[in-house]
Amino acid sequence: MSICGLDFGTSNSTVGVLHNDQATMVPLEKHPHTGDMETTLPSALFFDFETDDISFGRQAIRNYTQGEFGRLMRSMKSILGSSQMDEGTQIKGQVYSFNQIIGFFMQSLKSRAEAFSQQAMQSVVLGRPVHFNDHHPALDAAAEQRLAEIARQVGFDQVSFQFEPIAAAFDYEQTVEDEEIALIIDIGGGTSDFTIIRLSKAGRQRADRSADLLANHGIHIGGTDFDRHLSMATMMPFFGLGVPYKDKPTIAMPIHYFVDLATWHRIHTLYDSKVIRDIADLRLSMQQVEPIDRLLTLLKQKDGHRLAGQIEQAKIDLSSASHTQLDLAFLNRDGVVTGDVTHTATAQDLEDAIATDVGRVFAAIDETLVQSGLDKQQINTVFTTGGSTALPSVKALVQQRFPAANWVSGDLFNSVGKGLVLEAQRRYR
Ligand SMILES: Nc1ncnc2c1ncn2[C@@H]1O[C@H](COP(=O)(O)OP(=O)(O)OP(=O)(O)O)[C@@H](O)[C@H]1O
Ligand SMILES: [Mg+2]
Repeated sequence: MSICGLDFGTSNSTVGVLHNDQATMVPLEKHPHTGDMETTLPSALFFDFETDDISFGRQAIRNYTQGEFGRLMRSMKSILGSSQMDEGTQIKGQVYSFNQIIGFFMQSLKSRAEAFSQQAMQSVVLGRPVHFNDHHPALDAAAEQRLAEIARQVGFDQVSFQFEPIAAAFDYEQTVEDEEIALIIDIGGGTSDFTIIRLSKAGRQRADRSADLLANHGIHIGGTDFDRHLSMATMMPFFGLGVPYKDKPTIAMPIHYFVDLATWHRIHTLYDSKVIRDIADLRLSMQQVEPIDRLLTLLKQKDGHRLAGQIEQAKIDLSSASHTQLDLAFLNRDGVVTGDVTHTATAQDLEDAIATDVGRVFAAIDETLVQSGLDKQQINTVFTTGGSTALPSVKALVQQRFPAANWVSGDLFNSVGKGLVLEAQRRYR
């Protein structure tokens, strides 16, 4: 029987399998620029309207960016646990449920793992955030159930779950010699998840770790929220955010269009022809039309994901540079939009835009400590993983809060997946 661990992430997914009895991350996709095999598959699908093909990962993003006619979907995990979970979405005249869409993606992950292992995958440990939904336990439970259904739908016979930060702890535990208490911080694309756990060499063998688990907590804030807030602060005014009505100068363009445009999993809702008509009607009543024209052009060209991609890249660039340029030349494509469409964003813009989010993440870390009943001096190691832990403001706060702890920066994108396959090994063999 072959087993795997599958980390279906908001931004990136991974699969770990046993290869010659060793937990191994599956090389999932060739990087289009470097040619290297990557163990992450970006959680993206592209429905090509001309060929009716569905592509995944970097290939999906590339097809979209190169202007193929079709529809890109990203951050599908954010829909799990939300009230839109039961809505479908229309793609080329056909309505797909999110179960189906996530199913296509999971099937692709499974097939890639099977091609690598040369055997069928029957049992899976799936990662899950501590909360799919911070406020509604019923939606949270429904999200897990939904993910389990999807896993069965794509052909897994045995499906179980482990919390993502606990999985990351198991990855880190592979290197632990003496018993220690670790705080695991996983800040990803959709959620930030934390575990405080006692780890040891002997612990690795134990099937039941409940006595070692001291706290487990999470909050629905991650890199896609940082993208949204950076976009709202630096980019959306260029597309009409804040533009007032001609006859009501204290009232501005409805904000929800901009929030949707800045939110990965909501972008596609703006391509609806009714939404575009509504914005075109509003344009007639607004004090400035240039920003609204840019918005209309962007939506008609279905360039919302392109813009979001540039914002995300700017955020990543700004984690190691003081400023960066966004080039929105794609807006000039048909000559409707004229004028300067380059923008500079600075590290300070990013820090200001995400300060509230980052503050909430660290408040949740404080709550995790309270839950454990420990004092922060008792934390021996802080283990960080997840792409968003590369942000300078996050790093500075880890250092500031836990100056005495040993800080281990794990593999940002593979720790959870590795821990999940270790868990699969314990559970299914
Ligand atoms: N160098 C960087 N600086 C800042 N953010 C980064 C960097 N590299 C990646 N990110 C961000 O990290 C996030 C993806 O991280 P990761 O792959 O760990 O998330 P995920 O596992 O898909 O999400 P989740 O676990 O929340 O479901 C994205 O928002 C991405 O923009
Ligand atoms: Mg993750």
